[in-house]
Amino acid sequence: MSPSSTRSRSSQKPAPATASSGQAHSAANHAATNIIVSLDHVTKTYPNGCQALENLSLQIKRGDFLFITGPSGSGKSTLLKLLYGGERPTTGKVLVNSVELSGLRGNNLSKLRRQIGVVFQDYKLIPRRTVLENVAFVLWAQGFTRKEIHRRLLPTLKLVGLQDKANCFPEELSGGEQQRVSIARAIVSTPPLLLADEPTGNLDPDNSWQVIKILKKLNSIGITVIVTTHDEQLVRQSNHPVLQLRNGRLFQAK
Ligand SMILES: Nc1ncnc2c1ncn2[C@@H]1O[C@H](COP(=O)(O)OP(=O)(O)OP(=O)(O)O)[C@@H](O)[C@H]1O
Ligand SMILES: [Mg+2]
Repeated sequence: MSPSSTRSRSSQKPAPATASSGQAHSAANHAATNIIVSLDHVTKTYPNGCQALENLSLQIKRGDFLFITGPSGSGKSTLLKLLYGGERPTTGKVLVNSVELSGLRGNNLSKLRRQIGVVFQDYKLIPRRTVLENVAFVLWAQGFTRKEIHRRLLPTLKLVGLQDKANCFPEELSGGEQQRVSIARAIVSTPPLLLADEPTGNLDPDNSWQVIKILKKLNSIGITVIVTTHDEQLVRQSNHPVLQLRNGRLFQAK
């Protein structure tokens, strides 16, 4: 099926392929190992015919911190879903760490996902588990030893400022605290790539900035961070490159 798009077209040109430095998208870049994420002419059309992304090409370098902005429904979550294999592209290629995701199934997909931390838009915390158990669960599921799990938990909770809430249940936390648990869970296994979908979506300006500071700190130790947000002010305050999604198409914003 080839559903036709009813979206309006902008006269502005779509963004250059490289998010970080404006370098040309070249064969040499493709070969270089410093590219952690590569999208090559990616289109995503959902089974109901909704075209969420249209002909996206993008390369992200290891160690980058990139914002993706855009109004509701512009395709931000869909883009992140393609990067962790939550959705598959309809056409085009998605590569993470030089591995094409659409070829991966079962164990191979799980293995690649261990290199990607995801902060979900709706947190996805386990309600009847404490903060500590929510974060530990990720490590346990990935086969970390008990000793290693204990070694990692406290420093991670400290990093997000939740060491005093370790034994609380999610319903006993504020929105900002729940958001920080979801960040702790995404980073506790120290994945090289962190995808954060609207991590400040439900937060006031102070809490939003606190979350961004945590993400910046993670980036400073080498983690590649991709953050979606519709908070234009937050993006303006930061000194990181920004891409904008509009109607499923990508534009360079900053
Ligand atoms: N599972 C799905 N099936 C069909 N259409 C979908 C599905 N998920 C998303 N869409 C559609 O794809 C488009 C992009 O959705 P997406 O969730 O990626 O937007 P978004 O930019 O993350 O929005 P928001 O800021 O509200 O989170 C929207 O038109 C949405 O209705
Ligand atoms: Mg979204």
